[in-house]
Amino acid sequence: TFPKLERNLPDTIPQIGFGLWKIAPEDCEAAILDAVRAGYRHFDSAADYGNEEAVGKGIKAAIDQGLCSREDLWITSKLWNTYHAPEHVETACRKSLSDLGLDYFDLYLVHFPIALEFVPFEQRYPPEWVFDPAAKHPAMKPAKVPQHQTWTAMERLVDAGLARQIGVCNYSSALLHDLMSYSRIAPAVLQVESHPYLTQQKLIRLARDYGMQVTAFSPFGALSYVEIGMAGAADSVLDEAAVTAAATAHDKTPAQVVLRWGIQRGNSVIPKSTNPDRMRENLAITDFELTEAEMTAIDALDQGRRFNDPGVFCEAAFGTFFPIYD
Ligand code: A2P
Repeated sequence: TFPKLERNLPDTIPQIGFGLWKIAPEDCEAAILDAVRAGYRHFDSAADYGNEEAVGKGIKAAIDQGLCSREDLWITSKLWNTYHAPEHVETACRKSLSDLGLDYFDLYLVHFPIALEFVPFEQRYPPEWVFDPAAKHPAMKPAKVPQHQTWTAMERLVDAGLARQIGVCNYSSALLHDLMSYSRIAPAVLQVESHPYLTQQKLIRLARDYGMQVTAFSPFGALSYVEIGMAGAADSVLDEAAVTAAATAHDKTPAQVVLRWGIQRGNSVIPKSTNPDRMRENLAITDFELTEAEMTAIDALDQGRRFNDPGVFCEAAFGTFFPIYD
C-alpha cells in the first residue's frame, strides 16, 4: 500500500477536447472561435506546438465576444523538454500562461519523460523541427535532470495556484510506478497516444488503478501523422471493417465511431480539426452507444502500433535515441 496522497481528481475535465497540435498560428484564432461555437470547452495546448500566443488571441476573442467565460474552459498546457530543471519549470509555466493570456491552467503536464538542455525562449528551436527531422538543432542535447526534481517543481505550481491539476504525458508503466513512489501531489492525468491500433490496455489500467484520468491523443491514429509525413493514408484505422460496420449500424461516420470507442473506454479524447463541419462531427458522439461486441471488435484491432515515437524521430533529428516506451 502507498502512503496517502493528495488527490486532485479532475472530475470536470470535459471528455471531448480540442487538440491544438499542428494548427498554424495564423489559423488559431479562427479555429478557436469555430471550436467554441461548435461547443468545445476543453483545449489541449503545449509550448512545443509553437502557437500559444495565437491560441491566446483566440481564447481572448471567444471570451470578449461573450461565447464563453474563462471558468467555462478547461485549458491544458505542457512543460517542454528543455525546461525540466526545477529552476525553469515555473518560468516555463508562466511563459505559457502569459502567451495564452491566462492566470492559471486547469491542467499542466510534463510533455515527455525526456529532459533536454535548457534553451532560452527567444532562441527556442523553430517549431518546424517536428515537421522536418532534417532540420537539426545544435542546442538539443539530453540533460541530466532526474524526473523527481521536475515533479517536485510541478507540485509547486499547484501550491502557487498556477495549475489546478498536474500530470504527465508519454509515461510508461515503469515511470508511472516510479512517480507514484515519491509524489506528494499525485498526477491527475496521463496523456498518451491511443487509438484502435494502440489500445494501451495495460498502461491505461495501471493509470486508472492509480486514480488517474487518461487522455488519448491522436485518437484517429495515422491521420494526424499523414500531414507531416510520418504515416501514409493507407495506415488509417477509419477503413477497418470493425469501424465501418459500426458506423453503418449507428448511422455515424468512422471517425465518430473511433472517438466514441475512446470515450466509452472511459478516456478523454482530443481530436484536432480546422474544419467546422468536422469539429461538430467530432463532438456529436454522445447520442449513441457501441455494443459490447462492437467495442471488442475494435479493441481487437490493437497492433501496439505507435505513430508518435521520439525514440524514432529524436534519433533522426538530434542523433540521440530515446526509447521511452514499454
Ligand atoms: P482537418 O483538420 O482537415 O479536419 P488527430 O486529432 O488524431 O491529430 O487527427 C487530426 C487529423 O484528422 C487532421 O488531419 C484532421 O484534418 C483530421 N480529421 C479530424 N476530424 C476528422 C473527421 N471527423 N474525419 C476525418 N478526418 C478528420
